Amino acid sequence: MGMHPKFEREDSFLLADMVLGADKLDVLKQLIDRKLVSVENVEAWGRLLAALQVDSTGWFKMIDHLKVRIDPLIGSGGYISEKSPYDIVGNYKAAALGFDANFFSHANFSGKTALDFGAGVYRPFCVAVMLFANGFDRVYSFEPFALKPDFPLASLMHLVNQMLVQPERFDFSGIGEDALLQRVRSLDLRHIDRSLAAVANNETDVIDLGGVLFTSNIDRIPDGAIDAHFSNAVLEHVQDMARHSSILRRVTSATSVGYHIVDFLDHRYYDDNNLSPFEKYYDGVLDEINGLTPSDLERVFLQDEWSVGKITWKTVPAEYFERETRPVIDRYAGYSRTELEQHLNCYQFRKDNA
Ligand SMILES: C[S@@+](CC[C@H](N)C(=O)[O-])C[C@H]1O[C@@H](n2cnc3c(N)ncnc32)[C@H](O)[C@@H]1O
Repeated sequence: MGMHPKFEREDSFLLADMVLGADKLDVLKQLIDRKLVSVENVEAWGRLLAALQVDSTGWFKMIDHLKVRIDPLIGSGGYISEKSPYDIVGNYKAAALGFDANFFSHANFSGKTALDFGAGVYRPFCVAVMLFANGFDRVYSFEPFALKPDFPLASLMHLVNQMLVQPERFDFSGIGEDALLQRVRSLDLRHIDRSLAAVANNETDVIDLGGVLFTSNIDRIPDGAIDAHFSNAVLEHVQDMARHSSILRRVTSATSVGYHIVDFLDHRYYDDNNLSPFEKYYDGVLDEINGLTPSDLERVFLQDEWSVGKITWKTVPAEYFERETRPVIDRYAGYSRTELEQHLNCYQFRKDNA
């Protein structure tokens, strides 16, 4: 079922109406009128809509794509999977293992402070809680944008329940079930609903769970406090990378290590296999991403005197470039295929003066 690459954020509102509204087929007609859904696909859409039960896999996928619009609705009885933050911590571990076999161990985490940079507006506590449970003394979760109502509390409660029931599944560092449980239980979750309301009302910019500290204000993190820093799907969004780099330099210690996962794929939602996953190279349209290529991004950090290590996890299959008939737009024309094909990179950042 093809989705046109010109699919815009506002169109996702229409799609949300289709998924959640009473007259789904009426909205489907509007999508066809806007040439976002082709007539040949109407039957397939009909089948998808009929099968779209609350809590089904398809439902969660839709929620991920449409979460902006679904926010107010999920508050009245939704459910959020913990899978995504769980996968993020798994990816942080995989990233670290690519550079240092000893990094992701509770022995290494003990006595250290970590930072999840750009923790997200939906599940801002989850990755930090998992890192804390795995042995860091203290973990900061930093998210500069306004948190979405209801999601942060629901996702945290769901995660904590899962950790209490299946602690072994959340042991990424070899810390052991008992220690992990003890750490999860030590978190102060009292009045977190009130704390979230206070953050939403700008009465505070910090929520301290004891061991895990959320903040929307990077100035709350003292100079040199951070020994290990992580981010997932953040660097491709940041507009002012030099400022971002200098913030990281300020908050990190001289011996700190950072692992950052960057997804260079075009972030528009479409699933037409005939189109390049790097459609931006041909039409120049950017949706929420900064459009930096890997070397653009790396240059900023190198200039700021970081040692930068890189492992490319995924590249775009050559066929996407080979069957493309359009020329690459000027902005990207000077780059080699090796540069443009990088889809998912993990980076290790260390300070050169370490
Ligand atoms: C796609 S979300 C990733 C959230 C989370 N790390 C995850 O993987 O679910 C992108 C995040 O990038 C961060 N971000 C985007 N633009 C930024 C900017 N200009 N400065 C700082 N952070 C930014 C925000 O924290 C935002 O939540």
